[in-house]
Amino acid sequence: MKLAGKTTIITGAARGIGRAIAEKFAAEGANLVLADIDEGALNEVANKLGAKAVVADVSDEKGASKVVATAVETYGSLEILVNNAGITRDALLIRMKPEDFDKVLKVNLRGPFLMSKEAARVMMKARYGKIINMSSVIGMRGNAGQASYTASKGGLIALTMSMAKELGARGIRVNSIAPGYIETEMTVNLSEEVIDSFLNRVILGRFPGKPEDVAETALFLAMPASDYITGAVIPVDGGMLIA
Ligand SMILES: NC(=O)c1ccc[n+]([C@@H]2O[C@H](COP(=O)([O-])OP(=O)(O)OC[C@H]3O[C@@H](n4cnc5c(N)ncnc54)[C@H](O)[C@@H]3O)[C@@H](O)[C@H]2O)c1
Repeated sequence: MKLAGKTTIITGAARGIGRAIAEKFAAEGANLVLADIDEGALNEVANKLGAKAVVADVSDEKGASKVVATAVETYGSLEILVNNAGITRDALLIRMKPEDFDKVLKVNLRGPFLMSKEAARVMMKARYGKIINMSSVIGMRGNAGQASYTASKGGLIALTMSMAKELGARGIRVNSIAPGYIETEMTVNLSEEVIDSFLNRVILGRFPGKPEDVAETALFLAMPASDYITGAVIPVDGGMLIA
């Protein structure tokens, strides 16, 4: 088992990509702490996987510290943090409500900042840790109709690099996965037009990607096999970024 005894926090684990990562990490023996705001779905996943569930909003300081404290109290350590929780509130720029812009930045960028800050305190003492931030290929390219979301994900990529520089000397690796179009509830309501624009750019021809495609890369970044990688952004997008 590739993650035996490694205490891992996964945020946004109640469904989609976060759930797929939780399933993969459970199969590899990780001690799991799963966090989400969707209590019902979270408890179902946690019960199935024998994981600890924490109902918490990662963009709230108390919520973030509760998640990290639960990991340490339950398992006595924290080796891996997967900042996966994220939301969209899409609209064209001129129609985008400032409060929706703020909400997206709050969950997608402030959330990982708060969670990483709490986790880093524990990891620095142990002089070891892995932080994995779920960004997006469109955080590097931009996308019409998604100004808030792409700004949050571009910010998360910059945050990843800054944290990698600050924390590397303490043995903490900070990397990001940039998924392309992955089949989850987040993407189920995208317009035909947006889907077509993505489809034409997937050079591997398989579309959409699956949550498990992202979970495989998360597993690699969580394992000692990737110990010489930090500050990296790995697209899992069928080639969308370069097309
Ligand atoms: N699906 C895609 O195509 C795609 C592409 C690129 C990046 N991503 C990113 O991958 C991550 C997972 O996306 P997904 O497609 O599985 O989305 P999803 O909407 O299916 O799942 C997101 C989960 O996060 C939880 N969540 C939302 N706000 C939260 C908060 N404040 N605190 C705690 N939990 C919260 C939700 O309840 C949900 O369970 C997100 O960060 C998303 O931006 C997804």
